[in-house]
Amino acid sequence: MTCTLITGAGSGIGQQIAVELCGSRNLILCGRSADRLEETLRLVHGKSKQIYIWEYDLELVEGIKASLEAFLTANNLFVDGFIHCAGKMSVLHMRMADYKNTLKIFNVNVFSATEIVALLLKKRNKEHLKNIVFISAILAQFGAKGHNLYSATKAALNGLMRSLAVELAPEIRVNSVLPGGIRTPMSEAAFKDPVIVEKFRAEYPLGIGDTQDIADMVYFLLSDKAKWITGQEMVVDGGRTINMSHK
Ligand SMILES: NC(=O)c1ccc[n+]([C@@H]2O[C@H](COP(=O)([O-])OP(=O)(O)OC[C@H]3O[C@@H](n4cnc5c(N)ncnc54)[C@H](OP(=O)(O)O)[C@@H]3O)[C@@H](O)[C@H]2O)c1
Repeated sequence: MTCTLITGAGSGIGQQIAVELCGSRNLILCGRSADRLEETLRLVHGKSKQIYIWEYDLELVEGIKASLEAFLTANNLFVDGFIHCAGKMSVLHMRMADYKNTLKIFNVNVFSATEIVALLLKKRNKEHLKNIVFISAILAQFGAKGHNLYSATKAALNGLMRSLAVELAPEIRVNSVLPGGIRTPMSEAAFKDPVIVEKFRAEYPLGIGDTQDIADMVYFLLSDKAKWITGQEMVVDGGRTINMSHK
């Protein structure tokens, strides 16, 4: 059976992507927390095709290939689409950075994706794989105080995406989605602050978006409607990054 693999499927944007895709694709949901993945299962109950759970902590990069390969083989699954949505956020001044923490964020945001893609390109799966989508961020293109490492990981994903798009064409399309600020567990603290919400309202010409806006773009990129699109950074941010207004 062929499935679409979604990392970070237990909450926020990844969960909404699972809800959006579950009627048209078999899915493999990846996350660290069985409880959160259960919540996604509850949301898709009754409207989904087949759903499989691959519970794995992507920080443990060195074990990814063995774990995923064993999981796919045991369940006789092949992967036709890979959506890398798992992400770790870090906000700290650069003087506080240390290699161990830097490695952790790169492991989850970037190196887990490289390991998964490498495995999916092996002989057993390669002919099945048609699409790769990385959930990046507008912070890959712009700067913000304290977001140094996070921005670096998201820019790294975009660089990886562009080269893969060329390397894997024409069989496999590879794109990134760059969301603006969306209310999810990752951004909950900011959205609880009325001052920040007011600032967002002023900065986003189309108002504040939600996880569905990102899921819609992923759905489109996986579809045949996007069959001539590869190697692109798809910004979905309600106009935030083109807004030069003073007020
Ligand atoms: N929210 C925003 O404003 C925003 C803006 C731009 C980009 N993004 C990106 O969108 C993606 C989804 O984030 P979100 O906003 O939806 O936040 P979220 O709900 O906190 O989702 C992050 C996901 O990453 C998974 N994850 C984190 N560490 C992991 C690990 N070690 N192993 C496996 N999974 C791990 C989490 O799964 P478990 O906790 O279940 O393990 C969780 O499902 C992220 O890549 C984020 O950088 C978000």
